[in-house]
Amino acid sequence: MEKLSVRNARLPEHVGRQIILEGWVRTRRDSKAGFSFIELNDGSCMANIQIVADADLPNYADEIKHLAAGASVRIEGELKQSQGKGQATEVQASSVHVYGNSDPETYPLQKKRHSFEKLREWAHLRPRSNTFGAVFRVRNQVSKSIHDFFQERGFLYINTPIITASDCEGAGEMFKVTSLDLNNIPKKDGKPDFSKDFFDRPSYLTVSGQLEGEIFASALGNVYTFGPTFRAENSNTSRHLAEFWMIEPEMAFLDLQGNMQVAEDFIKRIFTDVLRECAEDMEFFNKRVDDTVLETMNKIINSDFLRVTYTEAIEILEKTDHKFDYPVSWGIDLQSEHERYLTEKHFEQPVILYDYPRSIKPFYMRCNDDGKTVCAMDVLVPNVGEIIGGSQREERLDVLVERMKEQGLDPEEYWWYLDLRKYGTIPHSGFGLGLERILQFITGMTNIRDVIPFPRTPGNADF
Ligand code: 4AD
Ligand code: MG
Repeated sequence: MEKLSVRNARLPEHVGRQIILEGWVRTRRDSKAGFSFIELNDGSCMANIQIVADADLPNYADEIKHLAAGASVRIEGELKQSQGKGQATEVQASSVHVYGNSDPETYPLQKKRHSFEKLREWAHLRPRSNTFGAVFRVRNQVSKSIHDFFQERGFLYINTPIITASDCEGAGEMFKVTSLDLNNIPKKDGKPDFSKDFFDRPSYLTVSGQLEGEIFASALGNVYTFGPTFRAENSNTSRHLAEFWMIEPEMAFLDLQGNMQVAEDFIKRIFTDVLRECAEDMEFFNKRVDDTVLETMNKIINSDFLRVTYTEAIEILEKTDHKFDYPVSWGIDLQSEHERYLTEKHFEQPVILYDYPRSIKPFYMRCNDDGKTVCAMDVLVPNVGEIIGGSQREERLDVLVERMKEQGLDPEEYWWYLDLRKYGTIPHSGFGLGLERILQFITGMTNIRDVIPFPRTPGNADF
């Protein structure tokens, strides 16, 4: 006897074999003819497999007839061709071992459909529902495609630190890391004395692995990171998390246009893999969550992303009759209403905006000759807005030092970053993709809390 996943047991090629299945009961129906049907799911695929359990099984009356949704079982039996509709195979059980039954009075995931909001209260059980099973299978596939894409192109996977002393994005949205006793903070000149703290200086959870990525790109060529990042921005929106996963390639000897091309190829590769490998889950999202996801992804795979400068985008936004809450003028940081107007209403497709005003972008972005803009790029998609932010990095030492001063940063704090420009500086570029943002786009799930296993948002770190 061989153990099969439900996914494999649903394939007709295994018919005739004696198999073992382990999983959770979705439903049980008793037939008057003296047997029961059990719908079993083990998370390997969306579909269940039907188990036929005859009344002559020794534990039929005591256990099998009481199996309820959520119960865990081990089935042994023969895989047969199914007479029923909608499935190729079923299992004629020779043994049903019950690991644990489930109380039908209190088990939350009964037949009734719950709102996604309600299911967030049951973060420990929601992976057992159809929707969340599908979300996390797709999340797994996206992670695999990310590694495949970069590994096939010879990028090295590196791990950048989670605890850091530098604020890469300069937005001051960092969580502090300390081992000081908060009830008795040592003070010096009225301020906390961080020389008594664990790292002898103020330290934080990282907002991005980019600066360390640049160190490795300046030695090993193309590299990428894929890890958790943290932002203490107090924005309670459907697109922001305090802890999210970011993929950050950093590429040596590459300019902004090349950077955009990698970003576009990267997204298309992820979409192509998901459509091929997660067809059943994607059908589900298209039917139950958002009936445009399949068409949209296919369209994107087969068309070129538009590339539009920030200045052109502002002109478009200034010309339209559409009313925005936040007024438009050259120099503003685009709000999500602006980004969404551009990609949903105006272009109706993904668009890469580039050459943003230098005053609204971090110190590390390369200054353009116009003196007003930097080599920044954002990839915007319908429904979600920004999913990628990136740039060509400033490789000229003097310009970089000027930029730091302009932004009130102390160049001495970044001495190691400046060293990269002193010793064999290179043109280089990179970007960050928010894993949860691209998952929102793929699945059509409207709230970012529903595409990460355990969302961390203001006021919420349960589980
Ligand atoms: O645009 P961001 O801030 O760029 C950086 O951090 C650069 N250092 C990346 C680089 O060039 N290596 O963030 C990149 C992406 C965003 O486009 C968005 O998809 C995601 O990270 N992101 C968030 N996702 C969820 N919740 C948040 N609070 C996010 N903030 C950014
Ligand atoms: Mg950004």
